[in-house]
Order: sequence, then C-alpha cells, then structure tokens
Amino acid sequence: MKIKVAGVELHCDVAGSGPAVLFVHGFPLSGRLWEPAVRRLSSAYRCIVPDLRGMGRSRGTATATMQDYAEDLAVVLDAVGETGPVVAVGLSMGGYVLFEFFRRHRGRVRALVLADTQAVDDKPETRAKRQEMIAAVRQRGSSVAAEAMIEKLFGPDASAGLRREWLEIMSASPSVGVTAALQAMADRPDSRPTLAEIDVPTLIAVGEHDAITPPGVHREMHEAIRGASLEIVPGAGHMLPVEKPEAFGEILERFLAEHFP
Ligand code: MLT
Repeated sequence: MKIKVAGVELHCDVAGSGPAVLFVHGFPLSGRLWEPAVRRLSSAYRCIVPDLRGMGRSRGTATATMQDYAEDLAVVLDAVGETGPVVAVGLSMGGYVLFEFFRRHRGRVRALVLADTQAVDDKPETRAKRQEMIAAVRQRGSSVAAEAMIEKLFGPDASAGLRREWLEIMSASPSVGVTAALQAMADRPDSRPTLAEIDVPTLIAVGEHDAITPPGVHREMHEAIRGASLEIVPGAGHMLPVEKPEAFGEILERFLAEHFP
C-alpha cells in the first residue's frame, strides 16, 4: 500500500494477522530485506514492512533526519491501524531509527529487536567519509554508494547471486534518498544514553562476520540494556536476515513466542 506522509508517498507491505511486528530496514536497502522473516512469521503475526523514505519504492526528499524517519514510522502505524504498541525490528540504520522512535514514542514499543546495528554515533572520520560519498552520489548516482557498500555487507558464505541481487536493489534507490540518509546518519545523536532507558524485552542479533557493526558493539549494547538477550550468528555478515534466513527466523520466532505466547 501507499501512505502519504507530509506530501511524501511511502510504500508499505502488510502481511498476516496477530500481534503487530514492524520491520525497519537499513541503508540503502528496502523492505525486501525482511521477505524470508515475513514468510515465516505471517501465519501468526501481522508484519508491517515499510520502505524508508527515499529507499526501495518510497519517494525521497532532499533532506531527512532520524526524527523524520521515526515520525514516518508513527504515521505508517496509524495508517495501518496499529495504535497500540508493536514489536519493532530494525537492522543497522533501521536500528538508529528505532532508537529515535523509542525516545519519541515509547508507548508504541512493546519489544525491540536490534539486528546488526549500533547505539554509538559517527566518529569524525566516518562523518567526513559520508560527506565524500554524498558528493560522489550527487555526481554519479546511487550505484557509487551501492558498490562501496557491497564488499562490506556480506559474510563469507553469501552467494554471488545474493550479492548481485542486493547490488541491484541498492543501485535502484533514488539518489536523493541515499544522500539524505547519509546526512541523517552523520547527524544522528549518540543513542548510548538511551540504552539504560530501554525497559521492554529486547533481542540483539548480529552476524559473526558483520564488518559494519561488528559483534563487539552488540556485546556493549547487551551489557547496557537490562534483561536483553544476545545472539551471534555463525557465518553471517551484516545482512543477517537474508544471509542466514533460517537461523534469523528461528531466533526471532523464539523471541516472539517467549514474549507473546
Ligand atoms: C546500514 O547498513 O544501514 C548502514 O551501513 C549503517 C551505517 O552506515 O552506519
């Protein structure tokens, strides 16, 4: 379905029925990241899968902030009729957006799944690299960002076909969406102070070979979030839900069944 947010048209897929689970993809990906998980869960859960503004099939804006992406999620949930709290699952930038969503809409979060993400903000050198990438994408389009990302995204077991598929998806993101997201990530606040505030059931999951947000940052989040559980998945990189769909699906299903029997 299409949802209008302040004049911007966002794409959102909704599948299944039961307790609501909101899935938030990373940069510069799309809701397709969650296809295997949704196939597995939609017999028991209502899966809500938006494409973030300026990625996948959602229209972009010249600029965006983490606050904008978080507010978009609130509008999406209203539009699909989920006014009560949901389980929120985010990967990488999706996790950055969920920290902001948690700060703004605490009452709408029933549980959190933080996959291949981090709470810490950018170091100055990462910010500088993002500015270089913004300039390159403005000149040459989204494929520059896609090519820079592709080597870091996957663990050693990922097939050539999977890498090719995601290179195409990332290259197809509107360049305005890619540059806006790069700036939003560079400007995002440090979410480490938020970790101690998290008082909902939380699952942290990461691929053992994640080169973008490595297991170490997940161990730190695990220590800082009261009662959280941590899963490190062997063989996977940053794209855990599509690299090891069986393992990720099983972990997610177990967490949901434990908290929402
Ligand atoms: C992502 O996967 O969402 C991004 O690579 C995260 C980042 O660049 O910080």
